[in-house]
Amino acid sequence: MKNLKSPGFTCWLTGLSGAGKSTLGIEITKSLEQLSVPCEYLDGDVIRTNLSKGLGFSREDRNTNVARVGFVCGLLNKHGINTVVALISPYRDAREQLKLEIPNFIEIFVDTPLEVCITRDIKGLYKKALAGDIAEFTGISSPYELPLNPDLILKNHKESVNECIEKVLSYLREQGKI
Ligand code: ADX
Repeated sequence: MKNLKSPGFTCWLTGLSGAGKSTLGIEITKSLEQLSVPCEYLDGDVIRTNLSKGLGFSREDRNTNVARVGFVCGLLNKHGINTVVALISPYRDAREQLKLEIPNFIEIFVDTPLEVCITRDIKGLYKKALAGDIAEFTGISSPYELPLNPDLILKNHKESVNECIEKVLSYLREQGKI
């Protein structure tokens, strides 16, 4: 097999459920496509219906989920397809492992406070988790380990989606990725 240098990058959005990762991920992907930058969007909710179907929400299963998606990103990046990922990815060790495995890995922390996510509760899951009807729910009965040194922080509750997207695009331009 040819030992190709990895020309692609991975924008990895991590944060609580309801933080806005998917909204931002979709918009980042659209913006990149408009710039003719090849890009694939990988969403946690979708991944869990196929690639990670059957996995639960224990620490081990979540880290397996993260590792699988990271593996796919590495393959796509190797062939010049950039990836945008929206996954809670709550454990630091699994995210740190991605940094070792994906050459152009960009960790983007979608820093929406838990109280805001609970108030939004778009999927009604926080209500259920707080009532004890969902076990191991991130932020309620399962931890979210804060990124210590993310490449970018998006404060989706204070900044508009457009401002967040512009931050990402500016970063990618500064880094010579686009
Ligand atoms: S991760 O922890 O493995 O990275 P992932 O992003 O794939 O999580 O999936 C999170 C989504 O699964 C949430 O947005 C929510 O819709 C749903 N979900 C169901 N149960 C849980 C749970 N116990 N904790 C967090 N999210 C859950």
